[in-house]
Amino acid sequence: MNTHPAFHPLARVLHWTMAVLILAMLFIGVGMVSTVSSKHTWLLAIHKPLGIAILVLAIIRLGVRLRFRAPPLPADMPASMQWVAHASHWVLYALMFAMPLIGWAMLSAGGYPVTILHGWPLPPLVPAHGALFGWLRLAHGVLAYVFFLAILGHMGAALYHGLIRRDDVLPSMSFPRREPSPPQMSDAPATTQASAVGTALPEQPPEAQPAGDPASPGQGDAG
Ligand code: HEM
Ligand code: HEM
Repeated sequence: MNTHPAFHPLARVLHWTMAVLILAMLFIGVGMVSTVSSKHTWLLAIHKPLGIAILVLAIIRLGVRLRFRAPPLPADMPASMQWVAHASHWVLYALMFAMPLIGWAMLSAGGYPVTILHGWPLPPLVPAHGALFGWLRLAHGVLAYVFFLAILGHMGAALYHGLIRRDDVLPSMSFPRREPSPPQMSDAPATTQASAVGTALPEQPPEAQPAGDPASPGQGDAG
């Protein structure tokens, strides 16, 4: 049974779903600005609705995070390390909101409509303004790389907890694995227990087996 304190299951589902979506968005974004082929239009058509979906998921996730307490970090972690962990999480949250909002505002400032599924238009976040478009475009690009670095640091920290410290931090965000249930022996009579163990253990050498045991029909074969 899993006894370590864990994040709420909804928080865990949102964490891993958003991790995949955000990483995909970073690569889609970089791919998008590196091509002038028809793929640019195609990638932008994915980038915009997916970015808005991330914004919606971030709102839900923040609600879940404020409603259900996060499990405490290991007590033996130095206070400075705990502070860095908490600060880095809030930086990640801030970027989960800032990136889509800046993307949306950037297009509004450029006078471009932001449409999501079936061409449904979203209202402009800011009025059309050339200089503001330039600033927001720069901010979206710079923060994208800050996001990349923050995620790399976060993944490094998660692996440090999982592989080096081997504490409860990584399991608190993962899904409990179903362990194979051991044979139910506690209720069984002693003789049944012995034979159940016998099937799991390697075969005993012949000399270790009681001579003339009628319950061991294969004795003669072993020699
Ligand atoms: C785009 C990628 C990712 C983002 C934006 C992200 C974001 C976050 C945030 C904000 C938290 C704090 C939990 C909360 O308060 O809701 C968190 C926790 C956590 N994340 Fe990620 N994460 C990402 C990818 C990953 C990956 C790839 C791993 C594993 C290698 C990972 C492992 C963890 C673990 C173990 C925790 C729990 C930390 C704790 O208890 O303090 N995350 N993540
Ligand atoms: C988590 C959400 C988002 C992430 C991680 C993300 C990431 C990126 C990245 C990495 C780039 C390339 C930046 C560069 O190298 O210059 C980019 C560009 C772009 N993004 Fe996003 N983005 C997000 C949300 C959005 C949203 C919601 C919109 C609009 C509704 C948007 C619109 C754009 C546009 C128009 C560009 C091209 C800018 C240019 O031509 O320089 N993004 N994004």
